[in-house]
Amino acid sequence: MHARRALLYMPGDDLRKIQKAASLPVDCVVMDLEDAVSAQCKAEAREVTANALRTVDFGISERLVRINPFYSGLAEDDLHAILPAKPDGILLSKTTRPSDLVRLNDMISQVEETNGWAENSILTFAIIENALGVINLAQICQMGGSRLNGLVCGGEDLAADMNAIRTRAATELFYARSAVVLHAAAFRIQALDMVCTDFTDMVYVEDEAREGMQMGFSGKQVIHPNQVEPVQRAFTPDEDEIAYAMQIIQKYEHNQQNGLAAFA
Ligand code: COA
Ligand code: MG
Repeated sequence: MHARRALLYMPGDDLRKIQKAASLPVDCVVMDLEDAVSAQCKAEAREVTANALRTVDFGISERLVRINPFYSGLAEDDLHAILPAKPDGILLSKTTRPSDLVRLNDMISQVEETNGWAENSILTFAIIENALGVINLAQICQMGGSRLNGLVCGGEDLAADMNAIRTRAATELFYARSAVVLHAAAFRIQALDMVCTDFTDMVYVEDEAREGMQMGFSGKQVIHPNQVEPVQRAFTPDEDEIAYAMQIIQKYEHNQQNGLAAFA
């Protein structure tokens, strides 16, 4: 599976930011057609994003597109514009019901078949950002099938949907974040943590990323280039952590050979 330590978003109609993101060593670039694009700019964003997929060199970065939710009436047009340009994956905003992923799967399968692309050439990610989405997690994972590579936790919209007040400690989101991690683990897919909307305080974002890593997330959404390095660092084991893990493995193997299973 692709490493997805940081997913950098930018408005899908902002070519300058897309090019900037493409030049960064970020694991994933997410061109957004949803909340970062105003209603009157949706068509332009589809065109700019599809063109970028065809012409911009993203280097090592995975090329992802976030589409509008199905209930908005915009998702079909998003997919018609984007899928022929072959993104690496689609993030479905406000995934609420298992049937959302059935519709998404059907549309992608059709385009893969028409173009003679291998099955699952285009991956999916379900953004969980309302209360019903959290409640339906197990069925969403089930219906996502082998195309579904990750669950993404949308903190701000979820807090609003729950009538919660966002706090720095994020205790109001702890249950939902944990539920996302637990379901992702059960279905052997990745869990991707909420955005840290403060992009000026790098200690805060790195601490929050580290906390997410400790909870079991494999990466985090980011909204500014400055957040990429601290977040990717938080999701990368350092030399001491690797050495410690190697030491435990060695000790375990050594003890096994000598008939010892339990050791301090
Ligand atoms: N991706 C790529 N490049 C970005 C970027 C992003 N998300 N955010 C900022 N940049 C670029 C800017 O274009 C600028 O480059 P330039 O100097 O070459 O023009 C540089 O990084 C510094 O940006 P800065 O001035 O600090 O920020 P800003 O005021 O231009 O933009 C935001 C602030 C919040 C509008 C911007 O970070 C943004 O659009 N973030 C993404 C928002 C989003 O997609 N939200 C939806 C998902 S939750
Ligand atoms: Mg949102």
